[in-house]
Amino acid sequence: MSLNFHPVAKIQDLPPGTCQSIELHEHGIALVNLNGVIYAMDNTCPHAGGPLGEGTVAGDFVECPWHGWKFHIKTGVCQKNPSPSWNVPCYEVRVIDGIIHVAQQTPENRRE
Ligand code: FES
Repeated sequence: MSLNFHPVAKIQDLPPGTCQSIELHEHGIALVNLNGVIYAMDNTCPHAGGPLGEGTVAGDFVECPWHGWKFHIKTGVCQKNPSPSWNVPCYEVRVIDGIIHVAQQTPENRRE
């Protein structure tokens, strides 16, 4: 199945070790720059809805700004409660000519 990638941000606005919240078709997504590689996951923390894109990057995890739960940037696995119901869906990313593109999110193309 081919994925539909959409431009969402400039890579120059997301330095290594940072994250940000964006919207794609009214769906909140957190972009994370981990050592120069861009990752995308749902922006909504499954604990109580905190915006993960406003959190902080700590090692291989993004830390939710509300209560500090950590989610693995590459897999979305919750460090505190590593079970599927607490994991955050992740999405495919491409960077083309300095523009970050994220695959349109559907249940079929989530990287879970
Ligand atoms: S809302 Fe994210 S840790 Fe509570």
